[in-house]
Amino acid sequence: MNFNSLQREEMRQLFLTQDKNLLERMFTAAYDVKKQYVGTKVYFRGIIEFSNICQKNCFYCGIRKDNKAVKRYLMPLEEILEAAAWADEQNYGSVVLQSGERTDEEFISYVENALRKIKELSCERLGITLSLGEQTKETYERWFKAGAHRYLLRIETSNAELYRTLHPEDHSFPERLRALANLKETGYQVGTGVMIGLPGQTTDDLINDILFFKEADVAMLGMGPYLPHHDTPLKKRTANFDAEKQLDLALRMIALCRLYLKDVNIASTTALQALKHNGREIGLQAGANIIMPVITAVKYREDYLLYDNKPCLDENASVCRTCLEGRIKSIGEMVGYGEWGDSPHFLKK
Ligand code: 5AD
Ligand code: SF4
Repeated sequence: MNFNSLQREEMRQLFLTQDKNLLERMFTAAYDVKKQYVGTKVYFRGIIEFSNICQKNCFYCGIRKDNKAVKRYLMPLEEILEAAAWADEQNYGSVVLQSGERTDEEFISYVENALRKIKELSCERLGITLSLGEQTKETYERWFKAGAHRYLLRIETSNAELYRTLHPEDHSFPERLRALANLKETGYQVGTGVMIGLPGQTTDDLINDILFFKEADVAMLGMGPYLPHHDTPLKKRTANFDAEKQLDLALRMIALCRLYLKDVNIASTTALQALKHNGREIGLQAGANIIMPVITAVKYREDYLLYDNKPCLDENASVCRTCLEGRIKSIGEMVGYGEWGDSPHFLKK
């Protein structure tokens, strides 16, 4: 099999095979492609989950609007800046601002202000990625002007029908596509991604996701296994959740994305770590090259649970840093401190 120019049928085979030897060859090939196209430096993006207030009701998500068990918060500006300043001191290179989705003017200007202040306090050093959902083009432009230069907006699945089963009526697949196009037009480095192993998702769906990423010409991928959250409608539709299978599927997806897309940044997400303590390191070995350490203050972490069993709820950012660094060294890689680590795919343009 030529791993460097995979066809649909071969991807299907690699998703389904139980042949250990073939799988090992796939993971080795993916790691080779990673070395060749993006190198083995891991870039950190410290993630600040600054609010769990959300106006949406995605069926899979623990902080969906209708989950009344969640204590809602919005971090005060000073705390956001404190976290960003810490990331800058640690030479993290970049931060990610993530929250539930809100589209009111108060929120938009709050973020705008935070962006300006983060740029200022870090003397423009910190790169800023946003993960704040679907917004109007005008909002994307305002935030871009204020200093954000990357944006993550997952398509969740490229199968419009499956997308419909995961979201209430007010969600629209074409709307999501339009938002991705708007982000690109605005000038962001755009990242998207899917949840892997969703109820009702087929192997062909995952293959189509990979082809979708190529077609959409994205610079970054943030994907992770779907993990049930006890207070959500999708949990009720999740039969026989098998953590080991879920991890196996997610790793194959990462490797296949690396083999097919080659020069994009791929995140090894916290959701992988929720399935296995060293899940993120295994993700790096399967072809990912980005890690997003949570730097949200510990007091908020219990309230930002998109899925059950989220790891490291009581470890502060410094502990996480030391722990992560050791783990990354243990697989023979190093951290790209003090660099933005932009996607070579984006820089090529
Ligand atoms: N399992 C895995 N990922 C989830 N997300 C939300 N809920 C879950 C879950 N239960 C992911 C979605 C969203 C991102 C912010 O978090 O993909 O885009
Ligand atoms: Fe809100 Fe995002 Fe969760 Fe959907 S996935 S409910 S938009 S926080």
